[in-house]
Amino acid sequence: VKVLGPDERPEAEERITPDATLNKIFFLLRNFSRVDFSFYKPGTIKRRITRRMFLRKIDKLEAYLQYLRRHRDEVEALFNDVLINVTSFFREPDSFEALKTVAFPAIMAQKGADVPIRIWVPGCSTGEEVYSIAIILLEFLGEKAPNTQIQIFATDLSEGIISKARAGIYPESVAMDISSERLRRFFLKVENGYQINKHIRDIVVFEKQDLAKDPPFSKLDLISCRNVMIYMSQVLQKRILPLFHYALNPGGILFLGSSETVGGFGELFVPLDKKNRIYTKKTMQSPVPLDFVARFHADQEIRVNAEAPKTLDLQKIGEQMLLYRYSPPSVIVNDRLEIVQFFGQTGPFLDPLPGDATLNLLRMVKTGLHLELRVAFQKAKRDGAVRKDGVLVQEDGGLKTVNFEISPIKNIPGGERYYLVVFEEANRSIIEEPKKNKTQAAPATKTGKREMSQLELENKRLKEELDASREYLQSIIEEQRTTNEELRSANEEIQSSNEELQSINEELETAKEELQSTNEELTTVNEELQNRNEELSKVNSDLSNLLSSVNIPIIMLGNDFRIRRFTPMAEKVMNLIPSDVGRPVTDVKPNVKTPDLRKAIQRTIDSLEIQEFRVEDNDKKSYSMRIRPYRTLDNKIDGVVIVLLDIDTRRAKA
Ligand SMILES: C[S@@+](CC[C@H](N)C(=O)[O-])C[C@H]1O[C@@H](n2cnc3c(N)ncnc32)[C@H](O)[C@@H]1O
Repeated sequence: VKVLGPDERPEAEERITPDATLNKIFFLLRNFSRVDFSFYKPGTIKRRITRRMFLRKIDKLEAYLQYLRRHRDEVEALFNDVLINVTSFFREPDSFEALKTVAFPAIMAQKGADVPIRIWVPGCSTGEEVYSIAIILLEFLGEKAPNTQIQIFATDLSEGIISKARAGIYPESVAMDISSERLRRFFLKVENGYQINKHIRDIVVFEKQDLAKDPPFSKLDLISCRNVMIYMSQVLQKRILPLFHYALNPGGILFLGSSETVGGFGELFVPLDKKNRIYTKKTMQSPVPLDFVARFHADQEIRVNAEAPKTLDLQKIGEQMLLYRYSPPSVIVNDRLEIVQFFGQTGPFLDPLPGDATLNLLRMVKTGLHLELRVAFQKAKRDGAVRKDGVLVQEDGGLKTVNFEISPIKNIPGGERYYLVVFEEANRSIIEEPKKNKTQAAPATKTGKREMSQLELENKRLKEELDASREYLQSIIEEQRTTNEELRSANEEIQSSNEELQSINEELETAKEELQSTNEELTTVNEELQNRNEELSKVNSDLSNLLSSVNIPIIMLGNDFRIRRFTPMAEKVMNLIPSDVGRPVTDVKPNVKTPDLRKAIQRTIDSLEIQEFRVEDNDKKSYSMRIRPYRTLDNKIDGVVIVLLDIDTRRAKA
């Protein structure tokens, strides 16, 4: 894992580089929001910019950059657009149910009664996700809820979004995602919608926070970060996942969106429910970026001081001192036999092999221990504790006898398996014993010479035995080497097919992520279109009402003389019926004697002049006929409007 500082620049291909103009747009966005979007997925960002350009009717990126420079409100609009705040209550309901059946039981299994449950929801958008989690947790706790302390932190990049989330007011349409039982229990009906009730709002703390650069929360039991990383490049994802590992308590849970995974961080998280993207933290040192660690430690120190116990825990201190002084040489290793902790003087048993540095126990023990340890581990994994006495180990050109014991460590949160391996030099007691006998016997019997020759014999026998063992050992080593080579080549084959599979898998994952993000973008565009549609039909019905209540004959025509719209009064005067819409007005035989309509209309279109004629209908009633150009909102001429004013009635009134 490459650890990055906040200002470090990652590999070029991960950034959106090709376009200097684009980089200038990122600069403007960074100045406005302090968020660096150059580590987000290029496709999404470009599509959002194109959308803004379309709305502003700008077709060149450079021109859009100039527009952004002159209009700060457009920078804000682009920032909000890029964030894609699509969200909803209980998004993927099965996954939320899995929190109740899988995640919360795992969290509660290792929680003390008085310890608060701490949850963080980064990228919370307008709050639907965090309130859904709070509801699920309260339902899970049931009667225990009033006596359980709950702290939920929800963060996002934009102050505006966070204020909406904090208010917790949602339109009536949310009822489609929430059962009526939940609506009744957790919401309050307000004008035009529902508000999440105060009790839940009080347990959630909303804050502005940039996941990519601000320090995380800590000592968490659950992090729910859904549909946020799909917008980020691999570089950013690789920075964030170790951070989550760091922020979680041992055995803490990570809840991701349906198309997100922990990627290459299998050593940090194990799936608890793969389908619903629920992972649990593995217990190991977090590879967290240093800048975060520094800030986190400062924060921790303050807290430790504030909560420091008044009385010293002498028993604990004593135990630690004794352990340091008297513990036998031993190590703790994980499932892959990597050493995670040393105790006592392990030097006499370890002798790292030349080559790449590693903490793998089998590559670190002295010659002679490898095979025995490997076999013993297989046994320990299968059957539990294993002890092995009298293992011959090479040292300084000779051999010594070593005993060891492997004990599995139980009840480790997070499901990872660890083993304690204790070493002991077997011949130490053998050497010490004759020495003791000798010093006791010497003054009384004076038989030192006879004992010496007996010792010499014993030595000889042992030496022969040792030689035989050495040969036997050598043959085992040889045997193992050939097996090893065969295994290695088989392993390499498996590894290469594995890599191929993995790369196919990753390609599929990326395609899926892209699809999901495009889908979310489409949802926002769709929402906007729906809003505009509603506006349009409102304007349309206003216009229809206006036209029917105006007691004046009015006809609207296109540039091609075709009738677009007319008022009910025009039906009578111009002899029109509803199906005349779309027909050229010159095909209609009006009830008034008009001048050459085609000519008059064409003249207005060409010269933009307003023309007025006096016309009479068949009953000799006089009208003033006005033909004026039809201007669109963007000042284009798109036909004419003909209005007929009843002169006789007006005159009579005057
Ligand atoms: C598509 S929404 C997902 C909302 C919610 N998590 C869900 O799944 O329903 C993505 C959210 O992530 C937020 N976001 C994007 N980058 C972020 C960052 N660096 N730090 C915090 N939030 C971020 C966006 O503002 C947006 O609200």
